Amino acid sequence: MASEDDVAPVITIDGPSGSGKGTVARMVARSLGFRFLDSGALYRVVALASLNRGLAAEQAPALAQLARNINVKFLSAHDGDVQVQLDDVDVTFDLRLEKVGDRASRIAAHPQLREALLDRQRRWNYPPGLVADGRDMGTVVFPDACLKIFLTASAEIRARRRYKQLIEKGIEANIEQLLADIIDRDKRDLERATAPLKAAPDAVPIDSSGLAIDQVVVKVLDFARQRLSAIS
Ligand code: DC
Repeated sequence: MASEDDVAPVITIDGPSGSGKGTVARMVARSLGFRFLDSGALYRVVALASLNRGLAAEQAPALAQLARNINVKFLSAHDGDVQVQLDDVDVTFDLRLEKVGDRASRIAAHPQLREALLDRQRRWNYPPGLVADGRDMGTVVFPDACLKIFLTASAEIRARRRYKQLIEKGIEANIEQLLADIIDRDKRDLERATAPLKAAPDAVPIDSSGLAIDQVVVKVLDFARQRLSAIS
């Protein structure tokens, strides 16, 4: 019988904010019956907790300790989405706020914090399989993944998508500001010394700029089925 000690096939989807990787990863996981890890949500939960506790973004050791001890749960919501709880309180909405995303990107530059989150992420890897999305899933966290996708889209397209998402959720947004934030965040994620956003050498690049989400999902599922049948 499968246990949590067994490892399983992993598919990683890395890319910048707004490339569509979260939606694609969730749909691919659902279609394959695999688990889904939104690693960005973990960084966001630590960011939110650090804001709530009045920690500064520079306090690396305290942030790493917070990341190790944090009480976070990912629950399946009725609508098929994931509900994230911090200390048993639903924080799913708060995690998407710009100030939380911005804080997450800043604290994600601390190697100690990244190290503190490594085990938590790897514990998601048990049968039947895992789809993990983030920045360093294929390069650092799951280097042995059977399929690594690097999903990109132009900054303008990503800003437009983010704007639409926020408006649909009833959150006020300004498209120029979103574009500036995206460019800023890309720069930080790309230039940090530890686990920067970059494609693994063996990753399959997909540019989603001119594609609908469903088209990207079909592409990823094609690659996934080929790789999975090769290892089974
Ligand atoms: O994917 P996201 O926008 O929810 O991630 C929020 C921030 O967390 C992002 O700016 C960088 C950081 N992050 C990271 O450094 N490594 C990951 N694997 C996932 C997210």
